[in-house]
Amino acid sequence: MNVVIVASEMRPFSKTGGLADVAGALPVALAERGHRVWAISPRYRHVDGARQQPERVSVELFGMDHEVGLSVVEAHGVQFVLVDHVSFQREGIYGDVHGVFGDNLFRYALLSRAAIEAVAAVEEPVVFHANDWHTGLLPVFLEAIHRPRGEHLRSAVVLSLHNLKHQGIEAKEMFGGLHIDARHWPTCDMDGLLNPLKAGIVSADALVAVSPSYSLQIQEDQGFGLEPVLRSRSEDLVGVLNGIDPSWDPATDPHLAARFSADDLHGKSVCKAALQRELGLPERPDVPLLGLISRLDAQKGIDLVEDVVPWLLQDDVQLVMLGSGARRFEHFFREIERRWPTKARGWVGFNESLAHRIEAGADIFLMPSRFEPCGLNQMYSMRYGTVPVVHATGGLADTVVTVDPTHDRGTGWAFAPFTSAAFSRAIGYALQTYREYPKTWAEIRRRGMTTDFSWDHSARLYEEVYQRALSRRAQATS
Ligand code: ADP
Ligand code: GLC
Repeated sequence: MNVVIVASEMRPFSKTGGLADVAGALPVALAERGHRVWAISPRYRHVDGARQQPERVSVELFGMDHEVGLSVVEAHGVQFVLVDHVSFQREGIYGDVHGVFGDNLFRYALLSRAAIEAVAAVEEPVVFHANDWHTGLLPVFLEAIHRPRGEHLRSAVVLSLHNLKHQGIEAKEMFGGLHIDARHWPTCDMDGLLNPLKAGIVSADALVAVSPSYSLQIQEDQGFGLEPVLRSRSEDLVGVLNGIDPSWDPATDPHLAARFSADDLHGKSVCKAALQRELGLPERPDVPLLGLISRLDAQKGIDLVEDVVPWLLQDDVQLVMLGSGARRFEHFFREIERRWPTKARGWVGFNESLAHRIEAGADIFLMPSRFEPCGLNQMYSMRYGTVPVVHATGGLADTVVTVDPTHDRGTGWAFAPFTSAAFSRAIGYALQTYREYPKTWAEIRRRGMTTDFSWDHSARLYEEVYQRALSRRAQATS
């Protein structure tokens, strides 16, 4: 198949969260399975990579022709295409210290249109794989601009839903800037507003939620208003768990002080000591070290962490947190360092290398997300022998099996309901098991480390979705 993955962020070029990990890793897994793959994302500021003689295309949006550059970097069998435009050359990806950029509709409509132009010479049919609201308008552009010209009649669009909270909503008046016929307004209209995510949901040929549980939750009560729209497409919506990138492997990870694996955990103790040293915490092998890495957004349940911290830090434990985002939670991070200098660190900022060292050095990983479409850090944790304590929601519920010592099963603790009492109880079980039942602890770890979260499995499932989307198109056009 010819697969074209389009996303607003993509590792190794850009990243604010898990979408970038997925958009960087899935193309490689698909190319390894023999497909021809293009992976298209903006070239933001600070992104290096081939820039010699980029191809230039012109796209009409908001009353003007905009010239964009398309440069190709080939890696791991994938054609990574970077889209150049002055509107991507800013300090942040979606916003900066002054808030969210006011022209994001324009920027991502530009990305979607440029992505279709970038593969104009590729043999049809093509599977376009759009992701989240940013590329939700891609199927609309295909239908409104390209198909009337006889292009992409048999090409299909698959839309992955990584997070229903962000829909890219704008005033109706902005619709005129898209330069498409007014008969496409009902596709984009949600309660009188322009909603790119809704447009994608109704016009893609197939939909994928990033975990099976999330695919159901968004139709029930986690669709941020889009539940009825999602229910109307339930036959075309499946859940596919994300995989984890091969760069998250403790046996080869270059960020660590020592390497380790399920068969030889000595290196993990070295990593724990190194992390304690790096962060200026007492270097003690026996003390349980709890870690957390997160965007500091209301989604992530940091308020529950705030609730449990005074109780937790009375105990003989260490807590290391890394994150950036809402000022309130950044303040909380700084505050715990001040109050418990020998027990807690709250590192404010984005630091990929430190994220690897926390996954490796911690014993327990906290992820009490209010909702979590898939979640990657709980899977990284398990791979690194760090036992997760998570809220039983979305992808967290699908990947973490709660420990049942009487039946030798479980890889962590998934608590419910979403309360600080349930969260602290789960942390309590984890601490007790760590301290009093080392053999059970070793087994929990081993099970987590040997669970298969590889992309290969998820890539196969995506392949099936692509095939179904293409056959639907073929039927529709025959
Ligand atoms: P989300 O996409 O909702 O943020 P995920 O769990 O899917 O949640 O993915 C988050 C990704 O971003 C992980 O790779 C995680 O390690 C990374 N990450 C989040 N915050 C930071 C940070 N402050 N520094 C480094 N990496 C971070
Ligand atoms: C979103 C979700 C997260 C998911 C990631 C990648 O950012 O919040 O749960 O893992 O996308 O799909």
